[in-house]
Amino acid sequence: MESLKGKIVFITGVSSGIGKSCAYAFAAKGANVIISARRLEIVEKVAQDIRAKFGVKVFALKLDVRSREEIDKAVFSLSDEWKAIDILINNAGLAKGMNKFYEDDADNWDEMIDTNVKGLLFVTKAILPGMIERKFGHIINIGSIAGHEAYPKGAVYCATKHAVDAITRSLRMDTIDKNILVSTIDAGLVETNFSNIRFGDAEKAKNVYKGLTPLTGDDVADAVVFCASRPAHVNIAEITLLAARQASATISYRE
Ligand SMILES: NC(=O)c1ccc[n+]([C@@H]2O[C@H](COP(=O)([O-])OP(=O)(O)OC[C@H]3O[C@@H](n4cnc5c(N)ncnc54)[C@H](OP(=O)(O)O)[C@@H]3O)[C@@H](O)[C@H]2O)c1
Repeated sequence: MESLKGKIVFITGVSSGIGKSCAYAFAAKGANVIISARRLEIVEKVAQDIRAKFGVKVFALKLDVRSREEIDKAVFSLSDEWKAIDILINNAGLAKGMNKFYEDDADNWDEMIDTNVKGLLFVTKAILPGMIERKFGHIINIGSIAGHEAYPKGAVYCATKHAVDAITRSLRMDTIDKNILVSTIDAGLVETNFSNIRFGDAEKAKNVYKGLTPLTGDDVADAVVFCASRPAHVNIAEITLLAARQASATISYRE
């Protein structure tokens, strides 16, 4: 196992769910973390708590991954102490709405494509050149089983996660001679704030996980840390995690 101690890990979408769990999980292994999201006050609280618990260095950043300008400014103005990013975790993402294609709101499509696809591209584009220059880097994308299979009323969310899958595989080919690892962690049902954001309705959100025990953000973070800590000659291309009672995006056993 490769040590994560002292590594610099840049994580997007840390104000909630999987991203927040990743921040704690990497800090617990001794990594120094740059944590970001749009809601800076939450990110700052997470930063304080992580510093107190693990004694690692934490840099809290307000970042909307939809803004290329914000990303470039944030990455290019990192101090010498922070700019040698070893690991990038592209986690920020969301689903908005769950409707038949012809009844869906095109504004939701913009938001999902801008965040899940273009956001991931822009953040990666800003951070990757430094990794190439330093001849080391690991990019870990948070995909989804929605990137393996489409499901009804999910055309655009599924399309964005299929895009993450394609970008992951293509990027791995493009950086194969640069000592850059590229991986994706693709989960099924994870109980986070995800369904609240998707439906804007707490009752509907709760029903998504009814009758089974879903994955937690910590379960996914475990897989991300595993992926990031293999010996130098190993690349985990992809991990797919499902709740024990989930067989596919549409088939689960609920009691
Ligand atoms: N939950 C699941 O079932 C599941 C399954 C597979 C994959 N995933 C993926 O896992 C990732 C994390 O989702 P989650 O389940 O942890 O949901 P979550 O609890 O809602 O967290 C989403 C995070 O993304 C951030 N975010 C959203 N839009 C952003 C933007 N424009 N710029 C920067 N940050 C943004 C949010 O922070 P701010 O609002 O503060 O910006 C928040 O910290 C997503 O990519 C999602 O597609 C989730």
